[in-house]
Amino acid sequence: MTTVQPHVHLDPGALAGQMAADVRAGLTSTPKTLPPKYFYDARGSELFDEITRLPEYYPTRTERSILDGHVDDIARLTSAETLVELGSGTSEKTRLLLRALTDAGTLRRFVPFDVDPVVLEEASVAVAEEFPGLELEPVVGDFERHLGELPRHPRRLLAFLGSTIGNLEPAARSTFLAEVRATLGEGDAFLLGTDLVKEPARLVAAYDDDQGVTAAFNKNVLAVLDRELGADFKSEAFEHRAVWDAEHEWIEMRLESIEAQRVHVAALDLDVSFAAGEQMRTEISAKFRREGIEGELAAAGLRLVHWWTDPADDFALSLSVPD
Ligand SMILES: C[S@@+](CC[C@H](N)C(=O)[O-])C[C@H]1O[C@@H](n2cnc3c(N)ncnc32)[C@H](O)[C@@H]1O
Repeated sequence: MTTVQPHVHLDPGALAGQMAADVRAGLTSTPKTLPPKYFYDARGSELFDEITRLPEYYPTRTERSILDGHVDDIARLTSAETLVELGSGTSEKTRLLLRALTDAGTLRRFVPFDVDPVVLEEASVAVAEEFPGLELEPVVGDFERHLGELPRHPRRLLAFLGSTIGNLEPAARSTFLAEVRATLGEGDAFLLGTDLVKEPARLVAAYDDDQGVTAAFNKNVLAVLDRELGADFKSEAFEHRAVWDAEHEWIEMRLESIEAQRVHVAALDLDVSFAAGEQMRTEISAKFRREGIEGELAAAGLRLVHWWTDPADDFALSLSVPD
């Protein structure tokens, strides 16, 4: 049986401390918020994988179709020796890139990087079996904190797919892009997947599917807090909501308290009151326009050199290089 030993930047103690600080800050702010990275325990990653196959969730299959049409261009333009994938999850679409770079004869190494050690290990084993001879250096880490510790190899292609960048608020996004720029050297490139602004009804449906998979994913964060911080959230006391914020051009996922209730978080020695109908924000998913993201990349010192979309302009993949 194939085994792959991940390099761990997030030791369980540091992760627990970070989670405690984030959750205290979020539950005591107005309105209440929780950071999306805590959706992703083993169950959360499994639910996200199900989301990617839902009829309403167009981003995954659209991004795959764009990759499918342009992986050979990406391989030729980058001649990447190392593919680093941030927020890699199952690395499902990434196989297209791995195949093209392998066929082009340049790829030596794959560095999947994710906050969830379980999905990371399963994906690494699957990739190792499919690509014998490829060096694997999986990293468990937080892409908002550990980019500076990525292994430095020549000719790296840093991929950030799935429009996960949309989960960062504008200020966090600009810090993140500056850190991406700082880690890139000459000959490296950055491949970014971004979901594009479109009709709100389609966007809302993508985050509020008929089968309730996204609702279960959203509520999973409560199960994570119950388990990791000894909280006593009852998931049936909250409803999933997906709302389009036209001003910021982002989808907000929220959990709405269906009754007035008090929740105790033992590890934080914290009691939190929710009013009936109160909504707590659990994720933003920003949608982009070319001018906007090109400007944000430029502000970070990254020059957009290619922009690929699907025929309906639903999703974009961009390739940037250090300026
Ligand atoms: C929206 S999913 C995208 C997965 C995959 N890249 C795709 O395109 O389908 C986000 C992924 O990023 C990971 N993730 C979320 N926040 C993270 C963070 N702060 N640091 C590292 N990984 C994170 C999650 O565990 C999950 O695998």
